[in-house]
Order: sequence, then structure tokens, then C-alpha cells
Amino acid sequence: MFKVAVLPGDGIGPEVVNEGLKVLKAVSSTSDLRLDLKELEIYSERYLRTGKLVTVEDIEELRKFDVIFLGAIGDDRIQPGILEKGILLKLRFTFDEYVNHRPGQLWRPFGRLKRDVDFKIDVYRENTEDFYIGAGGRFNGGAGNVTIDIERELYDLSIDLQGSASNTDDYAFEIGIMSRKNIERFADYVIAEAKKIGEKKITVVDKANVLSNIYSLWREVWNEKTKQGGMEVQYMFVDAMSMALVKNPDKFRVVATPNMFGDILTDLLAEVTGGLGLAPGGNINPNGLSMFEPVHGSAPKYKGKNTINPAATILAAKMMLDNLGRKDLGQKIEDAVSRTFAKGICTQDLGGKAKTSEFGDAVAAEIRKM
Ligand code: IPM
Ligand code: MN
Repeated sequence: MFKVAVLPGDGIGPEVVNEGLKVLKAVSSTSDLRLDLKELEIYSERYLRTGKLVTVEDIEELRKFDVIFLGAIGDDRIQPGILEKGILLKLRFTFDEYVNHRPGQLWRPFGRLKRDVDFKIDVYRENTEDFYIGAGGRFNGGAGNVTIDIERELYDLSIDLQGSASNTDDYAFEIGIMSRKNIERFADYVIAEAKKIGEKKITVVDKANVLSNIYSLWREVWNEKTKQGGMEVQYMFVDAMSMALVKNPDKFRVVATPNMFGDILTDLLAEVTGGLGLAPGGNINPNGLSMFEPVHGSAPKYKGKNTINPAATILAAKMMLDNLGRKDLGQKIEDAVSRTFAKGICTQDLGGKAKTSEFGDAVAAEIRKM
């Protein structure tokens, strides 16, 4: 029995999560899988009503679960950053989900490239540091003192900054931070995953030619770890990597990226595979609580229309089962999605006519037939 915390979240989150759950229930009803699902109200409505983002009680409650299944967080009525940092990133950081695994494979016939090549890329995005660490502030009027306190599972870090400029302009900054221990455990994880699939090379993304302080430490660790692990390493600057993912996606298999570049590259890769509606992701703590979600956001303008593509969330459910040690059942979901597409059933973003709920029904029906 696996205990799953379900966070439908905002916008189209509840609709896509509904389809994910529909498919998971079809898997349960045709196998020995037992899921104890509980929905939790951690989302924008509660914030608007009560001012609460993620509370101490929420964290305590979530710790009782084996895994989190999340829809999307984000709401137009709330200033950007509040929910993202207060809920989504807060959960990733609190549960120390230091790996964000975002696979991207070509889904025929939906690929967007002119060149018809097969590809399957596992992107591993570092998920707790880099420019997402939350070390920012301002020197308004050209001067100021800023104290930044960062709390992670691995460390507490306090930074004091004092600034004074030669004029009275306003200055703003956002510091990117990486720690050796975190890069080490992230690299260990990626190298182990690459070995599991028999891959001998890892493409490591950065911008070490300009952001040379932060990414020299990153490279130092990657050099050591890949050498120890007998792995080939290929470094790519993020600008060249964006181009290469469009030009030659078939040249890559395992990609490791810092947090911010990973955010950008995984949207790009999703589009290349067929669209954001097909891209799942897992926020992974290899020894703790992981969280699975689609790569896309809450898309408020599509809310309640029953038109959005639930495939990304259904595939996130697949990744969740894989992570719980049931790759056999994860594979079933993936096969069911493939068979549904093969019948020409897909939502409007992929040129089809199926409603969100019809697509979920079709995938669930395929599972029941297997
Ligand atoms: C994602 C999202 C988040 C991120 C936002 C909503 C904080 O874009 O999961 O890719 O930047 O990681
Ligand atoms: Mn993103």
C-alpha cells in the first residue's frame, strides 16, 4: 500500500490530476497495486482565503506520505513569485528533492522538428540551488544592508551584504549559489541513473564561460565524479545546448543541468517532443519524499474548459509508479498512452478532438484491456 498525497492545485491542475487519478485507479483495479490517496488543500484559493502558503502543519502532514502527486500551482490574481516560491519551491526545498528528472522523448506523430529522428533524452535538473536559491535583494537609492538566510537540508547559510554606489540609483541582485556537497550527491545520482540504462556519456550544461565562479565549482565536481565513475563527460554551454536540442536531439541521451538553465531547456525540449502537454517530471529525493507533476503550469485561461491535454500528468503518474518500484506498472501506463495516440485519440493541442476527460477515459480503457 502506497500513501499518496494529492495536490490538485490551481487552474487546470485539478482537471489533469483527475485524469491522472483515473488512470492510476485503472492500474489498481487490474493489478495488486494499492494506493491510499488523500487530497490536500495547498493552493491559491486557500492562500487568498487565509494567507497560508505551506504551513508547518502541512509539512508534518505530508511527511506521513510515500509520495506527492501534484497538478499545478499558479494564479493570475496573485503577484508572480508568491505561490511559486511559497508553495512549489518551498515543497521542493523542504523535502530536499534535489533532482528534477524530466524525460523528453519524441511522441510520433507530434514531434515539431522537420528532421524526422527518434530521440529519448533524460534531463536531470539540479533542483535546490543555483539562481533558485532565493538569495536576492536591493540597494535602493544606491545603498543598503541585506541579510540573507538560506535553509536547506544540507546546511544553513547566512550572508550579509553591504552595498554603496557612487549615485542614488536603485540596484537589485539575485545571487546564484551552489555547494560542493549538493553537486556531489546530484552527480552521483545522475551517474548511477546513466549506468542503469547502459549510457557511458553525460552531457553537462552550464555557462562556465561567463558565470565562472558558480560553474567552475560545478565542473570541478563533475570532472571528479565522472572520472571516478568511468563516465565520459561532454560540457555544453546553455546557448549552444538550446540550439543543439532543436538541431540534433538524437545526439543526447543523459543531460545534467543547473536549476535555472534546466527550467528553460526542459520547456524547449518539451516543445520539440510534441508540446508541453506531453512533458512529465519528478522532483526526487532518493531517500525521502518525492513529488511528481507535469512540467507545464496552471494555464488559468483553459481552466474548467475540459480541453487541456492531461498526458503530461498521466505520464507523471507513470514516473511516480516507477519511483515507487513498480516499473512494470509504469510501463503499462506508457504503453496505454502510446496505444491511445496510435488510435488517433488526442487533445486539441496535438490536433485532435478529444476532451481532457475523454483522453483520460481512453487511456484507462487501454489499461483495462491489457
Ligand atoms: C517548472 C516551473 C517552476 C520552476 C516555477 C513555477 C517556479 O516553471 O516547474 O518548471 O521554475 O521550476
Ligand atoms: Mn518551468
